[in-house]
Amino acid sequence: PANLMEAVVSLAKRRGFVFQSSEIYGGLNGFFDYGPMGVELKKNIRDCWWNDMVRRRDDIVGIETSIIMHPKVWEASGHVAGFSDPLVDCKVSKNRYRADQLFFAPVVIDGTTHGYVSALESEKTTEDLQAAAELFKRKKAITGTLSPVVVKDFTEATADEVTKIPSPATGNPDLTPPRAFNMMFQTNVGAMTDASSVAYLRPETAQGMFVDFKNVVDTTRVKLPFGIAQTGKSFRNEITPRNFIFRSREFEQMEMEFFIHEDDDWAKWHRYWINWCKDWLLSIGLPESHISEYDHLKEKLAFYSKGTTDIMFKFPFGVQELWGIAARGNYDLTQHANASGKPQEIFDEATKKKFVPHVIEPAVGLDRIFLAVLASCYAEEQVTDEKGNTETRTVLRLSPRIAPLKIAVLPLIKNKEQLVARAQALYAKLKRKYACFYDETGNIGKRYRRQDEVGTPYCVTIDFDTIEKEGDTFTLRERDSMSQRRVTETELFALLEEQVY
Ligand code: GAP
Repeated sequence: PANLMEAVVSLAKRRGFVFQSSEIYGGLNGFFDYGPMGVELKKNIRDCWWNDMVRRRDDIVGIETSIIMHPKVWEASGHVAGFSDPLVDCKVSKNRYRADQLFFAPVVIDGTTHGYVSALESEKTTEDLQAAAELFKRKKAITGTLSPVVVKDFTEATADEVTKIPSPATGNPDLTPPRAFNMMFQTNVGAMTDASSVAYLRPETAQGMFVDFKNVVDTTRVKLPFGIAQTGKSFRNEITPRNFIFRSREFEQMEMEFFIHEDDDWAKWHRYWINWCKDWLLSIGLPESHISEYDHLKEKLAFYSKGTTDIMFKFPFGVQELWGIAARGNYDLTQHANASGKPQEIFDEATKKKFVPHVIEPAVGLDRIFLAVLASCYAEEQVTDEKGNTETRTVLRLSPRIAPLKIAVLPLIKNKEQLVARAQALYAKLKRKYACFYDETGNIGKRYRRQDEVGTPYCVTIDFDTIEKEGDTFTLRERDSMSQRRVTETELFALLEEQVY
């Protein structure tokens, strides 16, 4: 489609994947609901992650910690002091911008700066600003040679420049200097709403693993290297939630803290986890062509961080971070040990010494994977029916691992008792193990299309051959190839067993 993002958002709404939160009240910016199809898809992605990350491994255990934790957790972790984005206000329009998403360039003509142009983050910021600079020159009727623009973001502006850069909203220099805006949502615990009762909704699930580290070590038989994983909601008061569910204010994370010996080769484990995450993304059906890596610049890393690599994904709006794999040293456990007065150490049998383990952290957003899946599995194709008519088929090429429905059971016609009875019996048996759908209304072609749109990989049709011929076979129709073949019930279950894991 010409506008993939629009097509995906529209399908998500039309077929019950994602709705705006509180839509009848006009929605709430940065919040979303998952509909009947979406909740299944999301659960399947989460379950695949949990199975592969926790259940199928011997070295990782799962936990589930509370969303509201002791406020000291967020002081020790550094979030109270430092979990902020640079915020810029437009004094006139009251619009708010993240300074690192607000770009500007001086308009330099024959070596002299005549003014500034600005633009919000977009794929084409350089071209946008170059065009804006040319317009500026023409409007002011300045002759001379315009230099190519040098794009910077607002956080890099000098104090003098801040007073001259035009607001994207008004075109006039109405912007405030950037100020730190803490993204944690605050609430109060208990009946008092004073400073002593302030608490935060967690902005990441990771701290739960650090704070419960000792509990897990003391109650299980984990031995280094080992990991603790959890999935759950996180909350960030993002200044500019955008791109549908890509950046929202309430979202779900799937994080794992992998603890290693302080002398172990962290770079080896870092690489191991980057590769594991990439392979896992392929296993749920994301295309390799859309996946790349980005190493954070050493200068921009937090002081404790040894290295962070992001797995990037080609979204319809550009290549963006999907999964961050950070080597965090022993910063978090040390911080919590110091703040709580409770040592967070492990005893090393070999050296008879205690030490604080180091950690590698793969952290990903479930909603972000969900969007990557929808956007890269969406296709519109021209198909020709038996009568020679061409039409557009919308199809979600979801992996059977994560498809909301694994199979649809379709009796060819609904007014043949024997046929419907066979279909019902098969449906009853299938739905004990698999999410499936029974549909007897409309022509068979239309029913196939309905399943194509929600990504159901298989449809099974109970037809006259099923009840009249020997062998009790059905027509199995595959979503992607649209090919059809006859299968028995045993073959059908074997196929699903192999494809849905
Ligand atoms: N514990 C480390 C941590 O939370 P992060 O890079 O801030 O690191 C990890 O977040 C992942 O969570 C991101 O790579 C992204 O997939 C997801 N994520 C972060 N903020 C998000 C938001 N506002 N909306 C949706 N997903 C988000």
